[in-house]
Amino acid sequence: MLAQAAANTSPHIVIKPSGLALGADIVGADIPNLSEAGMEVIRQALADHLVVRFRAAAPSDRDFQTFAARLGPLRGSPDYTRSRPVYMADAPLVTVISNIVEAGQSVGEHGDGELNWHTDLGFEDEPAGFTFLLAREVPASGGNTHFANMYRAGDALPAVLRTRVERLRCKHQASHNAQGGKRPGYQDIETDDPREMPGPVHPLLRTHPLTGRKALYLGRRFGAYVPGLPLARSEALLDELWAHAALPENVWAQEWQVGDLVVWDNRCTMHRRDSFRGQGNRRMHRLVTRGERPV
Ligand code: OGA
Ligand code: MN
Repeated sequence: MLAQAAANTSPHIVIKPSGLALGADIVGADIPNLSEAGMEVIRQALADHLVVRFRAAAPSDRDFQTFAARLGPLRGSPDYTRSRPVYMADAPLVTVISNIVEAGQSVGEHGDGELNWHTDLGFEDEPAGFTFLLAREVPASGGNTHFANMYRAGDALPAVLRTRVERLRCKHQASHNAQGGKRPGYQDIETDDPREMPGPVHPLLRTHPLTGRKALYLGRRFGAYVPGLPLARSEALLDELWAHAALPENVWAQEWQVGDLVVWDNRCTMHRRDSFRGQGNRRMHRLVTRGERPV
């Protein structure tokens, strides 16, 4: 459990909640020069608001990586990233999320299409802790990133449903990415039966290791399966849970400006991205902290 640090006692840092289900701006934080007390204010803001934004932060890649590492041990992205050739020399764990193509080569991952609701790296045994996106280029419109508060989604479940899912787990299929394409290493997977798809099984309600609160943990709808249930009952249960997950009152959307640094906690949020096809270049620099096996 985090101590209840007084959020606004650091003289230079002010937390401005979005007023919606999650999300807050952190104003006055000098990213490259934060004291330990300042870091504690940021950790508490993440515990309280789940997603935080530093507007016009624009740190160097090196300062970005140094800052992120103060929130947890960083991990590389899986090695199938297309951004491997453009990893930053002075910040080797930074990867690129972008639609930009230079000399026939993708500069980063994920193109310009919509990304469906997901949590990062749920398809691994130890999914991501925090994800950091730093906006270097933004399109004229589109490409907003929406976040859902999964504590609230869990708390809002009807009591009978909540009791039921407390004992159930869900498979997070590993073979397909957020756009439905096959991940490298899974080219031979032919099945579209969720029961047959590979991937780790995680609890449907997980306890956050820092806050002690329980959050609904869904990952991605496509290919999900509740082991032990007949397929039709698994599908019906997951549809019912998803109907509670991303209700408008559970969501806050980030409209990107160049220099924005956004940090989210994958253990208690999901996110999705709007398409920005035809709207120009978008380039995000990204870091991820190691998470733990969900329990
Ligand atoms: C990610 C992701 C969304 C976006 O980097 O994990 O989902 O807005 N990005 O680019
Ligand atoms: Mn993501």
